[in-house]
Amino acid sequence: MSTDPRYSPVLQDTVRHALAYLDALPRSSVSATATLEQLRERLGRPLPAGPSDATAVIDQLVRNVEGGLTGNAGGRFYAWVIGGSVPAALAADWMTSVWDQNAGMYAVAPAAAVVEEVCGRWLLELLGLPPSASFALVTGCQMAHVTCLAAARNGVLAKHGWDVEQRGLMGAPRIRVITGDQRHGTIERALRLLGLGRDCVIDIPVAANGQLTAAALAPVLAAAPSQPTIILLQAGDLNTGSFDPFPEVIPLAHQAGAWVHVDGAFGLWAATSPAHRHFCAGVELADSWATDGHKWLNVPYDCGYAFVTDRAAHYRSMGHHANYLTHSEAARDQVDWNPEYSRRARGFATYAAIASLGREGVARLVAGCCSHAHALVTRAGALPGVEVLHVPHINQGLLRFPDPAPGATEADHDKHTEALVAKIVASGEAMFACTTWQGKRCMRVSVCGWATSEADIAHAVQGIAKALRPSA
Ligand SMILES: Cc1ncc(COP(=O)(O)O)c(C=O)c1O
Repeated sequence: MSTDPRYSPVLQDTVRHALAYLDALPRSSVSATATLEQLRERLGRPLPAGPSDATAVIDQLVRNVEGGLTGNAGGRFYAWVIGGSVPAALAADWMTSVWDQNAGMYAVAPAAAVVEEVCGRWLLELLGLPPSASFALVTGCQMAHVTCLAAARNGVLAKHGWDVEQRGLMGAPRIRVITGDQRHGTIERALRLLGLGRDCVIDIPVAANGQLTAAALAPVLAAAPSQPTIILLQAGDLNTGSFDPFPEVIPLAHQAGAWVHVDGAFGLWAATSPAHRHFCAGVELADSWATDGHKWLNVPYDCGYAFVTDRAAHYRSMGHHANYLTHSEAARDQVDWNPEYSRRARGFATYAAIASLGREGVARLVAGCCSHAHALVTRAGALPGVEVLHVPHINQGLLRFPDPAPGATEADHDKHTEALVAKIVASGEAMFACTTWQGKRCMRVSVCGWATSEADIAHAVQGIAKALRPSA
């Protein structure tokens, strides 16, 4: 045990706080209980004039954030696709801060660079993607989209003889981006950041099952056969978890010379579970993929992954050299593949998560969440006053609470659903959120925390039943 008085008291105190928080999680309110005013009052003190003891600072911070934390590290959080942290990843994340490596380059942080090399290889293998693809560990799926789409922008324009890194977009052949109309908002933001703008997007209405079909895509592709084109597909729609029909759509896109990018923020992880892998069939034919570690792999925030088959386009879009840097010939410099410069060594947590779970543990985690989501939706759906809109085939389901009043309209059902969800959230028993799907407000059920157990699901169903009782 360290005796360095600068570190020892505060770090030991922090371990105590961390364990107390984690021990209390199964019984704590999942939703925050403190109000905005309370949090501002507690935390918003004047700028401190002088130093304070580190342990006192941490004790005060822990006290002051109480009630202002959401319990997604525990097993009763189903509001959004937000995982917890498997213990090894959490510990590795602590060590990442202790080591405080700047993981931009091998020369600055050699172990971090090698760990990322290994993570890239492991992730490609786990997710069933081409082993030769390049990769980047980024802050989340949003930045994975930016990274992949920067490579796509480079690749499709290079085919038209345009070097976008040198010449920019002004005067460049216009890129069109074809996608289903249920795409995630981060896609559009990535396109805005890359200077492509919202107007480049052609939204195709998806089929009733949420899929972008080849029949719908073909005429759009044919309308401008020589235009540089990126096609965005989904592995896991945010509401229903639906997957686009990759084996039909990707070859069609490639025939038309398009780049295919896949948003697989969580759905790509279905490929790790033998029982769910078929949903991802053909996804490996795409040109780039974006996914998250902080969702289904359950590593701490923030962590996303970008993968690109055209390594040269990826390198051209991100590669960076400066004469004061020590570039490596033999090792992988992350700065050449990532949009950031100085960066957290987030590979350690990914490495530890995969090392602790192994291929089988990841598969069990993913399949377990799917079966919990199914149980939650079907059991809650069997309660009087609950309508099932989508039974999960992976980890996403949708429930609605119709207004029982005679003559209630769709708008009344929407309001009733929102009120019920607010009531469940306020109870602190389980956390859900509302979404709009096919024009209806409903309660989204997402299960992606490693800590969720059957007991948590039973607890959540009881919480829903309790909220449905008129007196509750
Ligand atoms: C389908 C999908 N794509 C992209 C994202 C964005 O991921 P991140 O928040 O990690 O940037 C999400 C996040 O919820 C998502 O569900």
